[in-house]
Order: sequence, then structure tokens, then C-alpha cells
Amino acid sequence: MEISLKLLPESERRHAVMDGMDSLPFGQLRCDHMFVMEYEKGQWINPRIEPYANFSIPPGAIALHYGQAIFEGAKAFRHADGEIYTFRFNKNAERLNRSADILCMPHVPEDMQMEGLMRLLDIERKWCPTIPESSLYIRPFLFATEDTLGVKPSGKHIFCIMLSPSGPYYAGGFNKTVTLLITEQFHRATPGGTGAAKAAGNYAASLRAQEFAHSKGAAQVLYLDATNTYLEEVGAMNHFHVLRDGSLIIPEFTDTILQSITSESVLEMLPNARQERIKLTDFVAMVQSGEIVEAGGFGTAAVITPVGRYITDAGESYEVGDGSIGPVTRALYERYTGIQKGTLPDTHGWLQKVPHF
Ligand SMILES: Cc1ncc(COP(=O)(O)O)c(C=O)c1O
Repeated sequence: MEISLKLLPESERRHAVMDGMDSLPFGQLRCDHMFVMEYEKGQWINPRIEPYANFSIPPGAIALHYGQAIFEGAKAFRHADGEIYTFRFNKNAERLNRSADILCMPHVPEDMQMEGLMRLLDIERKWCPTIPESSLYIRPFLFATEDTLGVKPSGKHIFCIMLSPSGPYYAGGFNKTVTLLITEQFHRATPGGTGAAKAAGNYAASLRAQEFAHSKGAAQVLYLDATNTYLEEVGAMNHFHVLRDGSLIIPEFTDTILQSITSESVLEMLPNARQERIKLTDFVAMVQSGEIVEAGGFGTAAVITPVGRYITDAGESYEVGDGSIGPVTRALYERYTGIQKGTLPDTHGWLQKVPHF
């Protein structure tokens, strides 16, 4: 693929804005350039790297009206050798295309996603932060641009990769547990719907539930399936719990759960991690009896979000263990982030070095 480059002169690049910063916000800063290409008449055209700037799209673009839009989230890290490494981006590229199938959008060939990203990261390597718990957050996205008010799959799309040098998702990093609200009032996904896709509309639809959770003093909702019987996932994380015997359980992937790359990686790393269909009544009984000793969420942004308490619509409150971060969660966080940062060996081959083009 021939990627054309329209780059800012070195004197207009802004990466020095990070100089002297000892912490970074999550998702606020933007790198100087982005990778973009368009889809028209059945093919991808005009792949290019250009300055980060507004798009020009018609007011009738399908994405704006009917939400035909999907995205991904991944990270790159600067190691002690000074080189930049991406973490399992091939899995994100694959998942983008699974989401595309669910939303009737064209595939973005995985090699094009990978090459676009690597070229962009090579140009933006000075933006990859070194501050502890920071990374270069990668946001690929695909949205429908055909100008029509008919409800149908768009014939035109834009694929873009933007980058954001970011600190930890929670200011202060991995240092405290959160509370989750178990509610029967909101559902994230239903069978046959878009729950397994990383579709923009899923997140729009989760905002009301998130606000409701906040009003009850919880960080997020732990969603149940549409029959209020089984645990599903959190707003932007898979859920897990740890039993007294040390085994780690993640709800089975269904078409109402996003298949988390963090969960998949944990399942590959830990011999005593497994997936199960988890009944809410069993879960609550096991938290109350102390059989469940730790719990949390898995996702790229925060890696692990430890959960110390669950509250319910009826006002019940259940503490997990002693409510603090448990040893299994802590050790897993250290091991996972150690592999990402290059301080522990990458025995699974999950890291890919950004070439110097
Ligand atoms: C709904 C949802 N579930 C789970 C996850 C975790 O997935 P991953 O570990 O691939 O980031 C995310 C975040 O990407 C998400 O948005």
C-alpha cells in the first residue's frame, strides 16, 4: 500500500508540550498527525498521513443519523531501549472487522490497519511518553459518510487512526477499588443485537446507566443479561472474579459481550483462569460467603479496575473480601503491565516493535 505523507515541518510539531510534565491526562492530548483513508465504490482509496484536523463530511452522513460507526482502543509503549512497541494490535485489527460485519460495514484489511499504524507511530515516536503508567493510546475508527437519509448500509466510509499520549485512565493510577451497581433497570445489549461489536451506539446507550450508577455512588453498572439472570460486563470492561482457591473467572463470551483482548490475554497467561456462565444469585451468595475474594474489570484503558463493593437497586451492599485490592489482582496487574512496558519477558510474542521506515 502506498501511503502518501503530508507532514508538518519539524518546527510546527507540538510534541514538546509534554516536556516537564510529570503526569498526563487520559485521552485529552492529540498527536500532530493521523492516518486516514476513504472507502468508495467498493475500495479503499487515498491512504495518507496528514496533520490532525477536522474532517469535512456532509450533514447527511449516515454515521451522524443512524450511528454506523465503530472503533478500537489499543496502546503503544516506549521501552528502556528507546524503541516503541505496540501490544497485540493484530487482535484489535481483527476485532474491528468483526464489528464491521455486525454493523454492515466494509472490512479494513488487517495489513492496511497495521501498516497505517506503524507508519504513523514511526512519525510520532517523540509523542510516546515515558512517565510511569503512561502510554500512547491508539484509537482506530471507521464511520459512514454517505449523504442520504435512507436507512441502509453506507457505500462510503472513512477509516482513521488517531493517537493520544495518555496517563492512567483513573487519575492516580492503580491504587484503589471502585463500587459497581448491579441493576435490573438498564441493559447494555440483547441477543441478536450489537453487544459484541465495538459500536459507537453501544456507548451512547450506556451513558444513562452510567449517570444512574454515579447518582447511586457507583463508578459503573455491572450489566446483567436481558433476563436479569447472568452477569455480563461493565460499561467498557469485561468482568472477573477470583475464588478462594485462586481461580479467576470471566463470564463466557456471548453475542452480548465484547470479547476483550485483555481478558483473552489473561486467559492465555493464567492456567487457573477460565470462563463460565455466571448466575447473579450464585455470584451474590459467593461474595457474601467469602468464597469470592477479589473482583474487577479488564480493559485496555485501565488494564485492571479492582472492585471492592457491589450495590443493588434495592440498596443492598456487598463488600468483596476486605474491600481493598487483593493479591491476585495486584500480581496480575504487575505482570501484565510489566510485559507491556518491557520490564518482564514477552513470552507470548504480544509486542511488536515499530520499524524505522
Ligand atoms: C464494552 C467493553 N467491554 C470490554 C472492553 C475491554 O476490551 P479490551 O480489553 O479489548 O480493551 C471494552 C474496551 O475496549 C469495552 O468497551
